[in-house]
Amino acid sequence: MRIAIFGTGYVGLVTGTCFAEMGNFVSCVDVDRAKVERLKRGEIPIFEPGLHELVEENVRGQRLRFTTAAADGLKDCEIAFICVGTPMTDSGEADLRYVEAASRDIGRHMAGYCLVVDKSTVPVGTADKVRGWIQAELTARGADLPYDVASNPEFLKEGSAVDDFMRPDRVVVGVDAQRAEVLLHDLYAPFIRNGLRFYTMDIRSAEMTKYAANAMLATKISFINEVANICEAVGADVRQVRLGVGADSRIGLQFLHPGVGYGGSCFPKDVRALVHTAAGSGYQAELLRSVDNINQRQKAVIQRKLRAWCELKGRALSGLTIAVWGLAFKPNTDDVREAPALELVRDLSQAGATVRAHDPKAIEETRRALGELPRVTYVDDPYAATEGADVLCLMTEWRPYRRPDFRRLAAQLRAKAIFDGRNQYEEARAAEHGLQLYPIGVPALFSPKRRPGTGAPA
Ligand SMILES: NC(=O)c1ccc[n+]([C@@H]2O[C@H](COP(=O)([O-])OP(=O)(O)OC[C@H]3O[C@@H](n4cnc5c(N)ncnc54)[C@H](O)[C@@H]3O)[C@@H](O)[C@H]2O)c1
Repeated sequence: MRIAIFGTGYVGLVTGTCFAEMGNFVSCVDVDRAKVERLKRGEIPIFEPGLHELVEENVRGQRLRFTTAAADGLKDCEIAFICVGTPMTDSGEADLRYVEAASRDIGRHMAGYCLVVDKSTVPVGTADKVRGWIQAELTARGADLPYDVASNPEFLKEGSAVDDFMRPDRVVVGVDAQRAEVLLHDLYAPFIRNGLRFYTMDIRSAEMTKYAANAMLATKISFINEVANICEAVGADVRQVRLGVGADSRIGLQFLHPGVGYGGSCFPKDVRALVHTAAGSGYQAELLRSVDNINQRQKAVIQRKLRAWCELKGRALSGLTIAVWGLAFKPNTDDVREAPALELVRDLSQAGATVRAHDPKAIEETRRALGELPRVTYVDDPYAATEGADVLCLMTEWRPYRRPDFRRLAAQLRAKAIFDGRNQYEEARAAEHGLQLYPIGVPALFSPKRRPGTGAPA
């Protein structure tokens, strides 16, 4: 099949590349000239395991190409995917201006039948708008061309995007025409050979499915963070509680990791967009509002712990040098959108602390997002960050941070304290080297209630 992909970001580039890998001919269209030039030179603008090699192979095989010209991308194409960003506006709703621009481009340049598929995460009812924008452009051209609009939400995860796309849990398509259903089923057939689930539904339900899935995952995270905070208050250990809870097969352990809250380009904006969409239809989504509020609060959990620690030790935050490990919102990506670590770095800099931060992939993106901040430096070795620092804050559970050299850390960290924002480390291992660990959801020395069994007063 000949396919055009509008938007060559995380979703568009992975989608286009994986379709090309299955033998389709794919043109990726993007309005960002610099990005297209880089892609044409063989540079991949994002870090995503396995993507570079696949892009290279498919460009070499002439199945994948990049262009800024919509007309060029749409030439002879049967299916056009919209994969542009849908960022959040100040009021929390999804900003559809890029979806509108892409839809209008398609309407202006399509030359024959085209199935237009929304892969961007868009509010319920967007397909109707896409149809309207395409039709307006066709009418303006005086063209009477057939087309269908469908929804095909994307569930890939950054960090394992290629794998997720190649072996999806499920494929969801929302259609209202048989031709659209047949085309999408054909296109996805190579990806669902092992009897994987291909769900065909009406368009609004498909649009809603994506928001509901992300809202559920965000809810699990905020739920366990709320439990973690209660654990700290009452003297329980969330690390044990989560095992006991997650062992129930109806609940499961996935996404039940207490930490510094969720970030990224999807959960925060999708939860808020769903709250907004619901309110627009007269429904107050109380649970999802709380999920968002809990997450906002959780993103400052390390700052709160640091302040409490300073009070206990009689130190000022402004006098501290703080090492930060991990800037990306999760491991295996350089994406720092809404990353909790960025808020930490910004807050610490504002409070007058000195910050030395490390991340295996996301330093460049962090610089871009935060600009130059006073007393903040980035280093390319984790132990260059901790050398001479007072304390370490672990913010992203990248693999190289998982089994650190505690002996070295004990020698480097002046205050011998680690604020473990991802509950990666064992207290006993850290204690062997005289390091004090401050995990999430575990009463620490400065918590109002101390751990049962320590003999300390509650
Ligand atoms: N990133 C994820 O993990 C993920 C997962 C599932 C779904 N989604 C959804 O997919 C959509 C895209 O997300 P992303 O992370 O890939 O975004 P992104 O910001 O990485 O990429 C968007 C791209 O679209 C381009 N673009 C903007 N307007 C355009 C136009 N008119 N024509 C052509 N290109 C245009 C931009 O230049 C950019 O390269 C969003 O709706 C997002 O919510 C993202």
